[in-house]
Order: sequence, then structure tokens, then C-alpha cells
Amino acid sequence: MTDSKANQKINRHTITAALPYTNGPVHIGHLAGVYVPADIYARYLRLKGEDVLFVCGSDEHGVPITIRAKKEGVTPQQVVDKYHAIIKKSFEDFGISFDNYARTSDKIHHETASEFFKTLYAKGKFIEETSAQLYDAEAQQFLADRFVIGTCPKCGNEESYGDQCENCGTSHNATDLINPKSALTGNKPGLKETTHWYLPLDKYESWLRKWIVEEHKSDWKTNVLGQVKSWLDDGLRPRAVTRDLDWGIPVPVDGGENKVLYVWFDAPIGYISSAKEWAARVGKDWEPYWKANDTKLVHFIGKDNIVFHCIIFPAMLKAEGSYILPDNVPANEFLNLEGNKISTSKNWAVWLHAYLEDFPNKQDVLRYALTANAPETKDNDFTWKDFQAHNNNELVAIFGNFINRVVVLTHKYYEGIVPRPNEFSEIDENTLDQLQQFPIIIGKSIERYRFREASQELMNVARLGNKYLADAAPWKEIKTNPERVKTIMYVALQIAAGLAVLSEPFLPFTSKRLKKMLCLNEEVLNYQDDVVSPSKKEIAIPKQVRHKLSRLVGTRNNVMAWDDLINEETLIKPGHQISKPELLFAKIEDTEIQIQLDKLAATKQENEAESKFVEPQKEVVSFDDFTKLDIRIGTIVEAEKVAKTKKLLKLKVDVGMDVRTIISGIAESFTPEELIGKKVTVLVNLAPRTIRGVESQGMILMTDTPDGKLAFIEPEKEAVANGVKVS
Ligand code: MF3
Ligand code: ZN
Repeated sequence: MTDSKANQKINRHTITAALPYTNGPVHIGHLAGVYVPADIYARYLRLKGEDVLFVCGSDEHGVPITIRAKKEGVTPQQVVDKYHAIIKKSFEDFGISFDNYARTSDKIHHETASEFFKTLYAKGKFIEETSAQLYDAEAQQFLADRFVIGTCPKCGNEESYGDQCENCGTSHNATDLINPKSALTGNKPGLKETTHWYLPLDKYESWLRKWIVEEHKSDWKTNVLGQVKSWLDDGLRPRAVTRDLDWGIPVPVDGGENKVLYVWFDAPIGYISSAKEWAARVGKDWEPYWKANDTKLVHFIGKDNIVFHCIIFPAMLKAEGSYILPDNVPANEFLNLEGNKISTSKNWAVWLHAYLEDFPNKQDVLRYALTANAPETKDNDFTWKDFQAHNNNELVAIFGNFINRVVVLTHKYYEGIVPRPNEFSEIDENTLDQLQQFPIIIGKSIERYRFREASQELMNVARLGNKYLADAAPWKEIKTNPERVKTIMYVALQIAAGLAVLSEPFLPFTSKRLKKMLCLNEEVLNYQDDVVSPSKKEIAIPKQVRHKLSRLVGTRNNVMAWDDLINEETLIKPGHQISKPELLFAKIEDTEIQIQLDKLAATKQENEAESKFVEPQKEVVSFDDFTKLDIRIGTIVEAEKVAKTKKLLKLKVDVGMDVRTIISGIAESFTPEELIGKKVTVLVNLAPRTIRGVESQGMILMTDTPDGKLAFIEPEKEAVANGVKVS
């Protein structure tokens, strides 16, 4: 071992991945947003020799679980038992390398969360308040969280939940909703007095601002900072951390009878309980992982969890006083599926357990496709065609192809024994130097949470290998210059060994297969010269090469480590016997993709059939009333987005008599460009309204499509002129 490595400081890392709700299985949206990046990060740090604790577990409380139980006609416990088992197994089969996967219904978690609550209570950190809360008299249920739906006071989304709006991510109190409606009965709720404990977030506002907005402005992702800043600017208010429910952790203080902890109070404490459970199992102390100042805590989450991990949980930790705060919260945006939002209730998803059944032994293909297309800075779309392309054009054609050529040629020329190189030429030196840079380049990307970029750099290692082989052309040289081929194959084998290590965080199954193929397994990793088969005649090694071979590959715990690629010149030594070639990746055929597309098409049909609910007819109107409406054909001649809005477009519409401005809420269904020239139907005598400072002079008639988008009512014949009446 080199000195620098011996002195290298080992850092402690606690990595958490959002606890999935056990109201359904895990899907590709969860994987791309949270679990795959978290796993890459954890595996990378372990390969760097760091001290890593990677925890997760099932989030088993909260309203979504009781709703699911009601829907399925079973108890909440049955729901969580079922999905916990499915989720846990699918994570394991997928190679997510949690050190511990707990569940919030575990005793240790109930104790940890209760203690946490009691500590804050004893320290006087809560406000106890009796106030009128939303109540559904028919269901005899207080309406909090997902039991109530209404208009978000911040963004106007009409389907916000009681505790959080999924559109803008804001967290609020149920009584803040405009036009609340019970999700249980559809009733307009009444009010009823009840007592709860509140965490006064307003008191943490300036501290949070200093900690996040000032201290972390350069290392946190802009999407995360932007959201946090906007909430802080709006002002924080006390948030209830208890609920009138019967599913959850009982409130452990006087007056807490028939009440439970708010799910978002107990769930993040689940990270701590998971660490405790792990420590007890492996005989370690959990506390340094949560309390030592030199521990780096990182939370991997999706964007809908930002408020809880950047505002509420840190405020809880701060109030408690003995815990560290996250160093970073690299939240991802959302992944859509074939153009539509992933939805558990609409079954619009690729479920992990189903994927693993349909594509056995292809965990890495999904991991790669999700990483290469990760929604790191904006929402992204997963398509099956893309998935196929990532497999066929990159994993098979670049990575697999390189490895296959190297291993096949090594067997063809040297019976699978790594040859001893002769003097390196410039292209050899260059290639080896480039190889040595990759662990640094990839590591930097990972440490900045740019997994997409990192995965592309990994593929570039294989590209480097392919280019080297193409340029050095051993298959040509072998006829005229067999000594040269030894050097070429030696260099190519170093790249192959490099790939075996560098691919581990991203493609752990492939890395394992590749290490096996190259016999880089634990037994032979203790590189000693005696690995060189004594029966093979040794050629004299030129001096220039000898100094490079003199260092042995690092063997920390007998496993080749990340930095060995930087510190060691030789990853796989001359004389080392490799195993037979085996294909790492196989082409995915169109027929396999079609099966998946057919599945989704069937889901779409089912959803359409279900949504064929026709609204009842409205009140009768007189013929005179009808003729008051002046509806005309028009053509859209200009379209642009209204700044700072999601839905609004400003249109110029030629309605025959004039060209008028109409503000229309269709931006989520159409881009401005595709609207130009479109024939539309316009109500031209609607009283003008000023929207966002612009006068809108009419309304375009639209209808809904089953996938939640809008469609125009168009005249059947293109030739209908602008201004022609519809009657
Ligand atoms: N169950 C939540 C979700 O799926 C995430 C909980 S994360 C934790 O959105 F912090 F509470 F653990
Ligand atoms: Zn909102």
C-alpha cells in the first residue's frame, strides 16, 4: 500500500433514501428519483474505502395506507405487511445495497419516535392548541392530509391534499385549503374542536434561512434551493404534528389519547430507527452516524419530499438538539412514463417487481436506463424505446462489445493469460493515462450528485477501450508483429479491469460477472508474483515498464478499490489467468418492448372505461338564452406563454371580424408552436376579463381527453372560413 493511502482519512457517511409508502409497490419513478442514485452514491463511497451507513425502510403510517385498506376491504396492518414484503424483496433483487431496511411499524421505531416526541414536549418545543378543524360528520372523521382535497392557497391547484399540494410542493394546514371536500364522502366538511401539538416553524425561519440559503447556496441543487427560498419568503407557520386518527404511533403524552403522530413527524425519524436496528444487528454504535459532527448526512428524496427534509425534519432535529443536520438533500424531479404522469392509483407505472419478472437478470439495464435519463434537473420521460436503445446501442454495442473482444482475443492469442507488455508506445501511454483519469472524473460527478453525467463517463471508459482496439488493431499486428500485440492486449486488459471496478456503483451485477470473467475475485486479488503461472516462460521486462509493474494492486479487504485505479499502474498483472468469455448484455428485441407497450395500452383502455362516467345534464336553458351565445370559427395566429404561469397561453385569434387576444389555460396540453394555424371554435361575445394584466376577449371551446389533456372542437372541414357562426 502506498503511503498516501495509509494516511487517507476515512470519513463517516449516513445516507438515507426516502422511506417508501407501503400503499403500493415501488415503480421506476421511485427508482430513478431516489433509490438508484442513492445506491450509486453508497456503493461509490464504499469503494473509496469510506465508512458508509445506507438506511431505508417502509413508511407504514399515514392516511394513504388507511385509504388503501378501505379500498381493498382489509386492515391497514394487512396492507403494510403485503407491500412491505413486496418492496423489500424487489429492492433486494434489484441490488439496492441498503445496510438496513426497516419498517416504521417495528417496536424500535415506535419507541424512537415516541422518545423524540417526548423530548421535544419536555423541552417545551411544542405549542398545544385547541381549535376548530375540518370534520366529516358522515364519516365521523377529522379531515387532515389525504382525507381532504381542496384548492391550494399558493398555486391554485384544485386537487391539493390537506397537508401538501403535489403541484407546487407547499406544505400547509388543512384549514388553509380553499373549497375543501372530504375525500371519504365528497361532503363539504364542517368544523369541530380538537387539541393538537404544533411545531412553531415560524421560530426556525431565520435559522433555516441562514443555514440553507446562506450556507448551502453553492452546494445544494438549484431546484431544492429555489423551493426552500420560496417557502421561507412566504413565511412559515406552526404545523400540527399530531392527528385524530387510529393508525399510527400513539401520542405519548397526557391528552394524547386517540391521537397519533403525524406521519411526517414519525417517518423521517425512521431513518434513525433504521440505524439503531442496523447497529444492534452488527454490534456497532449507531450514535456517531447521527450525532458526530464529522458525519456527512445526505438525504436522497423526490421533489415532493423537499419541504419535509429541508424545513420540517431539520427543525425537529434542531429542536431536539443532539443530532446533526443534512449536509445535502439532492432531490430529483419526477419521471413520467410514455408521456404521462406515473400514477399508482391509475396503474400507470412500470412496477419494479413486475420488471424483474419480465426481465430476469437485467437489473443493470434498468439501472443504466434510469441513470442515463435521470430527472436530475427537470422532469423526464421514460419510454420503452429509449430503454431498448440504451441497452442495444450502449450496453451491448459499446460496453459488452469491448469486453467481449478483449476476452476473446486474450484466449485466442494467449490461452487466457495476461501477456507481459513490451515497451509502451505513445498511444499506449496515452490510453493508460486517460484510464487513470476516469476514477477522478466519475468520482467528481458522483460527489456532486450528477449521476447522469457520471454514467456517461463510465460509458466513455468503454469507448476509450473500443477506440484503442480499433486504432491499435491487434488482429492485424498479430501476423507481422506478435510482440506488439502483447502490449496491446495488456493495455486493453487494464481497461477491462478498470471497467470492472468503475462499473460497480452503476451496474453491480455486470461488475460482478466481469470480475468473475477476469478472475478478479477475492482469492486471486491478493496479487503476488506467484499468480504468474510458473510454467509460462517469462520475457524480460523493459526497465521503463518494470517500475510500473513494481507496485501491487491495492487489496483493501481483498477487494479492488476505486483509488487503486488512480494509484496503481497495473490492475491485472501479466501471467494472470482469466476465465472464458461470457456475454454481459444481450440485445433486447422489438417483440419484448412491444409486450410492455401492450401492457400500458391495456391499462390505458381500462382507465378510459372507468372514466366513462358522464356528468349529469345541467339545468335547461331557453332557446333565447342559447342564441345569445355568439360562437364563431377562428384561427390561432400567434401564441406565447404567459410568464410565471404553468397553464396560461396568450393567443391572438383571427375570428373574421377582427384578430383578438384570448388568454387560455391550455399550456399543459399544447406548446405555443403547435398552435399556430389551428382552427378553433370561439365564444366571441363573452364579457372581457383581465387575467394577469391582459384583457382576454373571448373563450376557446375545449373538451377533455381521457389522459387528462385538452382537445379543440374543430370544424370538420379545414376550409370553413374565420368568422363563420356555429349554431
Ligand atoms: N413515504 C414518503 C413518500 O413516499 C417518504 C417518506 S421519507 C421519510 O413520499 F423521511 F419520511 F422517511
Ligand atoms: Zn400548490
